[in-house]
Amino acid sequence: MTAEPAALDQWYVLGAIGDFPQGQSSRRLLGTNLAVTRAGDRFTIESNGPPAAVRTDYGHLWTTLGTPARPVFDLPESRESDRRAVYCGAVTVRASGLRLIENFLDLAHFPYVHTDILGTEARPEVAKYEVEQRRDVDELWATKCEFFQPKAAAASEGGQISRYMYRVVSPFNVMLYKTPPAAPDRWDVIALFVQPVEPDLSIAHPYMLVIDDISTDAELIGFQQMIFLQDKIVLENQRPKLLPLQPGRETPTRADLSSVLYRRWLKEKQLRYGVEERTDLA
Ligand SMILES: [Fe+2]
Repeated sequence: MTAEPAALDQWYVLGAIGDFPQGQSSRRLLGTNLAVTRAGDRFTIESNGPPAAVRTDYGHLWTTLGTPARPVFDLPESRESDRRAVYCGAVTVRASGLRLIENFLDLAHFPYVHTDILGTEARPEVAKYEVEQRRDVDELWATKCEFFQPKAAAASEGGQISRYMYRVVSPFNVMLYKTPPAAPDRWDVIALFVQPVEPDLSIAHPYMLVIDDISTDAELIGFQQMIFLQDKIVLENQRPKLLPLQPGRETPTRADLSSVLYRRWLKEKQLRYGVEERTDLA
C-alpha cells in the first residue's frame, strides 16, 4: 500500500537518539526504506529522493516523507528540570499503529489486560469523562478520567484513584498525563510514539517524563515494559488488524468516547494508512 498525503504529511519517530550508532543504519517508515547517517549529533535521512527533514526533539529522531502543516508537537514538560526522561525501549507490534494509539486511549481494558496492576476486575467501571477536539491546535483531549488502580506506577505502595488526561497530537503520537504517587498536584507524562512500518506492522517507542525520586531506571522501564507486553499480546490477536472506521463495524460503549472521537478525527483527516479498507461497503 502506498501512503496517502494525509499519512505522508506527518512527523514520525524513528527511534531514541541513543539507539542510533555512528555511521549508517537503516529504518523503515510507511513501507519505505530509509538510510540514516549519523555523524556526531548530526543526522541525515535519505530514501529515494532528496534528503528528508530531520528533527531531534524529546530525545528522539523524527522525520517526514511529506510536507507537514505544523512543526513537531510541543511537549512543555520536557523543559521541566526535575523530571526524569526515561526511554523504555522499542517494541515491534504486528498491528496497525492506529490500533496501538486507540488501545492506549482505552481505560476499559485495564482490569482485564493489566489485572491487579492498572485495574481490578472487582472495579471495572469507567467513570464518565470528557473528550474534546481542540481545533486551534488540531489535538484530541480526554480529561477528568478517573480509575481505581491497585498498582498505578513503579513507585506505588498501594491502590489509588488515578487521575488521567490523554492528549492525541497526531494520528500516531499520543501522551497520557497521570497523577504520580509522589506528587498529586502534578502530572507524569507517558508518551507513546508510534512508527508505522507497514499498515499492519508498527514499532512502539514508549517514553516517560516522570516525577519520581525513588525508583531506579530499571524499575521504571521494567514496569512500563511489563504493561506494554500485556498490550502487545492483545493487539496482535485483535481482528481486524487494521482499524475499521465504518460506523457499526465495532460497537462503541460509553467507555469508548475517546475511541469514537479518534476514529472520527482520522476520517476527517482522510487518514488511510493502517485503516481497514472495506471494498464491499464502498
Ligand atoms: Fe494497556
